Amino acid sequence: MYIPEAWHVIAIRRELRRAHREPVALRRFGLDLVLWRDAEGKLRAVLDRCPHRSASLSAGAVKDGQIECPFHGFRWDGEGNCVKVPCNGPEAQRPRHLANTAFELREAHDMVWMWWGQPRAAGDYPELPWSGPFAAVDEGYVHDTLVETTQVGWMRNVENQLDWAHLPFAHHNTIGTGFPPDIEVRAELDGDLLSCWPAHYEDDEGVPHTPLHYMFPNTWIMAVGGPNNYSVIAFAPVDETHTRMYLRTYVKRGRVPGLAALIARVFRPANRVIFKQDQRIIETQPPGGTVGARDEKLVQADLPIALFRKEVRRRMEAHAKPEESGSSSSSSSEGSGDSQTVQLRVPEPNERAS
Ligand code: FES
Ligand SMILES: [Fe+2]
Repeated sequence: MYIPEAWHVIAIRRELRRAHREPVALRRFGLDLVLWRDAEGKLRAVLDRCPHRSASLSAGAVKDGQIECPFHGFRWDGEGNCVKVPCNGPEAQRPRHLANTAFELREAHDMVWMWWGQPRAAGDYPELPWSGPFAAVDEGYVHDTLVETTQVGWMRNVENQLDWAHLPFAHHNTIGTGFPPDIEVRAELDGDLLSCWPAHYEDDEGVPHTPLHYMFPNTWIMAVGGPNNYSVIAFAPVDETHTRMYLRTYVKRGRVPGLAALIARVFRPANRVIFKQDQRIIETQPPGGTVGARDEKLVQADLPIALFRKEVRRRMEAHAKPEESGSSSSSSSEGSGDSQTVQLRVPEPNERAS
């Protein structure tokens, strides 16, 4: 499974509601993770496997802001350091070989983001990929989120949301009603932002009224009928063939208190109907990555999808080069050996930036 080295949305905050008092298990990137809040309230994540004898730490407890294994009571802090081994006695040294792999997290936009890639020094992480069109919903909006899981990988889900031509077929009785089947699609890539729209959305100056935007690696936004409502999607990779989907509606606050929240909430069942229309079809596609799907014959309306695949391939190749030069020798937890697999190392515990 190829996962771009970047910040990824992995959850929304309501899924971590219990994390200050108990561990929360989460499977992402093909790994079992355990998340909890430390004594300062900061969200932490390590592998959900005890370095001692492999029990699940998520079956344990949060004690003094540390995660405690249920089997023999060993404890780890948020950096993955083993800080307590009860059977060795209170005077024993911190056992470095019992360190766990910790992951860098951020909380923003009511979402939880995880850095997937090589660890960096504290100040060297890039900004979260939430800018440009996403800034539109930062002020004055309320939101409601539908959470679903699809049995296809993240690339199939992204491509489905870059696809204008499926509207009058997959959604013929919902959002595709009246959408013309014969369309010309425009697309452009600007850094991490891929934008696309049908040509008939353009005004006389060639400016489209509601383009959709996909931001590498895993967020998507589109205005719905004007600037008062936006649809935002985050595609969290669970593993090669599963994706956690966060389908969020943003509604601009108006004069009537609570009305925007009510409208956002009302969108949820409608979004579920639309999501199910997509799900029943995309789950018939081969579920893994699509970069190697060279037997699929794309047409003009697939221009955004072609651009997406080309850019993913470019990033994979750029990422693979250091590996080929032999600069990295550590083991990997990822990869199924197919032609589009790029292995990304899970960093060893003592490599983590302090
Ligand atoms: S298996 Fe976790 S402390 Fe022994
Ligand atoms: Fe759709």
